[in-house]
Amino acid sequence: MFDLIVKGGTLPDGRKTDIGIQGDRITAIGPIDAEARQIIDATGDLISPPFVDPHFHMDATLSYGTPRINASGTLLEGIGLWGELKEVMTHEEVVERALAYCDWAASMGILAIRSHVDTCHDSLLGVQALLEVRQKVAPYIELQLVAFPQDGLYRSPGALDNTIRALDMGVDVVGGIPHFERTMEDGRASVRELCEIAAQRSLMVDMHCDETDDPLSRHIETLAFETQRLGLGGRVAGSHLTSMHSMDNYYVSKLLPLIAEAGVAAIPNPLINIVLQGRHDTFPKRRGMTRVKEMLAMGITVGFGQDCVLDPWYSLGTADMLDVAFMGLHVDQMTSPEEMRKCFDMVTVDNARIMGLQDYGLHVGAKASLVVLDAGNPIEAVRLRPSRLAVIANGKLISTAPRGNSQLSLPGRPPGIRRRHSAHS
Ligand code: FE2
Repeated sequence: MFDLIVKGGTLPDGRKTDIGIQGDRITAIGPIDAEARQIIDATGDLISPPFVDPHFHMDATLSYGTPRINASGTLLEGIGLWGELKEVMTHEEVVERALAYCDWAASMGILAIRSHVDTCHDSLLGVQALLEVRQKVAPYIELQLVAFPQDGLYRSPGALDNTIRALDMGVDVVGGIPHFERTMEDGRASVRELCEIAAQRSLMVDMHCDETDDPLSRHIETLAFETQRLGLGGRVAGSHLTSMHSMDNYYVSKLLPLIAEAGVAAIPNPLINIVLQGRHDTFPKRRGMTRVKEMLAMGITVGFGQDCVLDPWYSLGTADMLDVAFMGLHVDQMTSPEEMRKCFDMVTVDNARIMGLQDYGLHVGAKASLVVLDAGNPIEAVRLRPSRLAVIANGKLISTAPRGNSQLSLPGRPPGIRRRHSAHS
């Protein structure tokens, strides 16, 4: 007797199977002929492990327009605007916005999120609010928090002490923003000090790193070096890495092997990088996406993050990791069948590996968390970004949605239309 059986779905690797769930665990995969309290018919639909967002800012989300919009569209004005918002936001309001966003995320099948949280303000209001949210959403979303000195570890008075206080309060990961420190040397020193703090506390590291068009912003080199020096391999990620787009090719040929050897993962954020970067250019205009295919070819783990939804840096956003994969695919020209398929993995299994998620995936013994999509396979899912027909979190059905079919009224044409197609099956 199962609590829940998902019947007849197609796994990302193409296998058609039933999935049996007892309690919060997957306990059977294969043909199941047994009773269950609840059965979901997924015949012909894609069953995916949950979407994972390894880069987000939940303290800022859904604040678009407060107290004003970002007129220039640049990263720097966004940081300034966020500074204004920090002075007027309240604990209750941050919790409310974050929970509303988590509703969106859960409905779209995002069941794990790594969110940076600003640690510069002495009140640590955002940290307290997101610690509360982490606990509230724990039954359905695994929320990992990164202590993020947004205004600079050294540039912002008190940021170092406040970042350490945030870690003492239970924030999970050490963050940083070396390219926003006043000098290159301060940037390098901040990477060194933050990695040492992570090593002392046995924590992971995820730094905003080189989110700039300046080809000489090379803090990823220091991050990789410190990762090796301190034995942090496999626990460190560099987010954005947009300067790599503009770097000298010879230098990159030396840099990538260092990142690979150090075991540092990369988290580009295609929706945001395409919007924020290149704002100082005329034409040709750089688009700021880091070198995804080149890093993948070196064996570096690369995941795609969402970064922002309706906040000082981004005026759109849907909480859909398939939108992120879709944009990443386009900007990095990942158009071969293998590359398109990889984009799906990057917002699911690869992101889970970067976050160090335990018991993630579709196998016996894993957490019973999965998404049923109105698509036949992963490439079709990226193409259509279709309805999440069912979202199951830790064994519980938490969201359902109808299929996205249209009803046509056209002379000589059938009334129904389905956009699914067997091209990539
Ligand atoms: Fe970010």
